[in-house]
Amino acid sequence: MTENSTIKTLKVPQHVGIIMDGNGRWAQLRGKRRTFGHKAGIEAVRAAVRFARSSGIKSLTLFAFSSENWKRPQEEVSMLMELFALVLGSEVKRLHKNNIKLKVIGDTSAFSTKLLEKIKKAEALTHNNDALALNVAANYGGRWDIVNAAKVMSTKLVNGEISSDDFTESTFSEHISTSGMPELDLLVRTGGDHRISNFLLWQSAYAELFFTDILWPDFNEEGFQAAVEDFSSRQRRYGCTGEQMMTKDPEQQQC
Ligand code: IPE
Ligand code: IPE
Ligand code: MG
Repeated sequence: MTENSTIKTLKVPQHVGIIMDGNGRWAQLRGKRRTFGHKAGIEAVRAAVRFARSSGIKSLTLFAFSSENWKRPQEEVSMLMELFALVLGSEVKRLHKNNIKLKVIGDTSAFSTKLLEKIKKAEALTHNNDALALNVAANYGGRWDIVNAAKVMSTKLVNGEISSDDFTESTFSEHISTSGMPELDLLVRTGGDHRISNFLLWQSAYAELFFTDILWPDFNEEGFQAAVEDFSSRQRRYGCTGEQMMTKDPEQQQC
């Protein structure tokens, strides 16, 4: 086989989380208001969903609004909520047509009844789709997710549905917002900062982290492809040694 015809097999992450950061700075660089950046970010969301679906990623979790983002100026918060409702309404048909299952994760109790209604409808419509699970994290916080799982499990304990022995990592995972989905393999953050900002804390225990300076509205298929290629080149060891990861010895199978 010549070098050119060598087919590189890419390891595709099953579950990717993205912290879509940099909308405000993208707009400010163009002398516009921050909200202009949020609107421009919608096309980047479409591109990310397209890429995930076509590359075989099973779950994509997008950070749209954090539990801390309420602290922003009132005008920006209202505009983000309006935009969320608008996009939900305009995109859901397209998602359904493309066999994509939508789920909104986060503390939705803070949302208006109208928005909650829209979310419920969109989730119900796309419930049986299986080409890609798309999770939109809205009013989401990683600490909230963990506390919420603990709360649900505590209620079950009090009601006698489970015992304290059921408080294991695996049952806890079943009560976290991404339950039933593959483990988070890759966590991407755009916008140049190197932090998690209270995103998928429980889920990122063994995720590979990828940071890029690209501001969210400029993130496209090419940027996503670069993140997947980088992921594919990494050796994940889960506490084992590199040698253990490469051996086929059945005694080393826990690695
Ligand atoms: C991310 O972009 C979108 C949200 C947090 C809703 P930002 O609005 O945080 O943009 P920067 O980081 O200020 O540029
Ligand atoms: C994280 O971005 C939240 C979202 C992308 C929705 P932020 O811009 O809110 O994060 P910090 O404040 O810089 O940590
Ligand atoms: Mg930001």
